Amino acid sequence: MSHLPRHIAIIMDGNGRWAKQHKLATALGHRKGVESLREIIRYSSDVGIAVLSLYAFSTENWKRSPEEVSALMGLILDFFHSEIDELDAKDVRIRIMGDVDGLPEKQARTVRSAQERTENNKGLQLNIALNYGGQAEILRAISALCEKVIKGDIKCQDIDDALFQQELYTAGQPMVDLLIRTSGEMRISNFLLYQLAYAEMLFPQVLWPDYTVDMFKKDLETFGGRDRRYGGRKA
Ligand code: FPP
Repeated sequence: MSHLPRHIAIIMDGNGRWAKQHKLATALGHRKGVESLREIIRYSSDVGIAVLSLYAFSTENWKRSPEEVSALMGLILDFFHSEIDELDAKDVRIRIMGDVDGLPEKQARTVRSAQERTENNKGLQLNIALNYGGQAEILRAISALCEKVIKGDIKCQDIDDALFQQELYTAGQPMVDLLIRTSGEMRISNFLLYQLAYAEMLFPQVLWPDYTVDMFKKDLETFGGRDRRYGGRKA
């Protein structure tokens, strides 16, 4: 495949609708969604994608029913317990984006340990957004830069794109090249607001649990055919 995106971000939308279509409990839609996620991670790692960012739980998702929140938290634990050996063996490096301290203790401990265990891996960089909000991420970066100014480490006028990017969860990684949101909804929903500045966007009309590796390959081909100008003109 020509021209693969270096950084792909995915909003895995439509688990609830999938469950409804199949007359199942919402939690089972999420469970099926984890299967899609596993396949997409595996494929991304195999073809040499540099960075894959997945939106698993937003700061707004706490507003869902206690049953749904608890099902999602359970799936997160199951995912890390069942996948960590394979991910580590595939040299995948895991980074959690979001407020880990605000997660229940077991989940916080599990995701921290997955992050530590894989931190020296050199393969696919897998970012999982948990208790994540894009606006909060930007505010957190501003606050970190203010601290550095107060300490005298940097001056206000030194603040540029490179310094700012160092304070984001994606520090050291390329900006997003391709955003995919399944289910046909066309929103960013507070995901990677800064990093999406020049991303190409695709909105496949399929619910996340039905999203397959073949569909993903097609989306990568569509991306390969896009003409990216970053605000300039074609030469
Ligand atoms: C959106 O579907 C999906 C989510 C809010 C959660 C996505 C989480 C997973 C796929 C599994 C957990 C993650 C990991 C890393 C194990 P929706 O429920 O908003 O769908 P709807 O709009 O059809 O209701």
